[in-house]
Amino acid sequence: MLVTLKEILETAEGKGQAVGAFNCTGLESLMAVISAAEELNHPVIIQFAEGHGKLIDFDIMAPIMLSFAHKATVPVCVHFDHGESFDSCKKAIDAGFTGVMIDGSSLPYEENIALTAKVVEYAHEKGASVEAELGSMYASEVGAIEPGKNQELSTEDAYTDPDQAKEFTERTGVDALAVSFGTSHGVYLTKPVLDLDRVTLIKEKAGIPLVMHGGSGLTTSEFQTAIRNGIRKVNYYTYMIMEGGKAAADYVKQADDQGIYFFHDIMNAARDAMKKQVMEEIRVFALEK
Ligand code: 13P
Ligand code: ZN
Repeated sequence: MLVTLKEILETAEGKGQAVGAFNCTGLESLMAVISAAEELNHPVIIQFAEGHGKLIDFDIMAPIMLSFAHKATVPVCVHFDHGESFDSCKKAIDAGFTGVMIDGSSLPYEENIALTAKVVEYAHEKGASVEAELGSMYASEVGAIEPGKNQELSTEDAYTDPDQAKEFTERTGVDALAVSFGTSHGVYLTKPVLDLDRVTLIKEKAGIPLVMHGGSGLTTSEFQTAIRNGIRKVNYYTYMIMEGGKAAADYVKQADDQGIYFFHDIMNAARDAMKKQVMEEIRVFALEK
């Protein structure tokens, strides 16, 4: 069943867990995520990142994602990830998405507030919820959604400031806040150094569900400390889609013996591998592993 971001995060808050938010760039990843959540009987967030429009059109994915969410046996939020403008967030809300992220993190602080507040006003009027971002995520160089973004910033400038998070939340009325504490998108080129205590401080001040971006590549214990400290949504894509890619490559290697390649079998091998990976992560985020 389709639910809002606010609803799904409130349930997670009550249980002290995080909900997995997986980016869907095709039917295989979408089917993998929904069937993983259904098999475990856990809520899930399926999301489409604006930057992934270069891989597949929003207009193709949006109605399919909403249809899967409506039919699912578990609560599903359909979320727009890393929205770059008021207009793109409005388009997602008008299409029926129940959550949008407006990513004004690279704007000057006051401009981020003004843009976020404008999206919140529109979204709330239409019954959708809003995630915003404060602080800057470093982008690693392989597979990042936003390559090269903010790499010139020092750690102090990049990480979210707890007092600013409180003010930002009060002035914008956002439902969830993406925070920067050392994670980054894509494949980590060096081991990330996480400031997990910062999550606790931000949570105490801001008092709303916090979001971790760049989930791929963290250890179970890093995830679970972050969740105990206040993370309620974990964004995860790179390692899921690489798992699919590896399964497809293995399938092709086997098929090489006979030289017979059925594309549907390659896609199904990828889908099954992604489902397995997503199931593992959902259990980690629910503190079941
Ligand atoms: P990863 O691809 O690093 O898992 O990050 C996903 C993400 O943050 C989507 O917004
Ligand atoms: Zn992200």
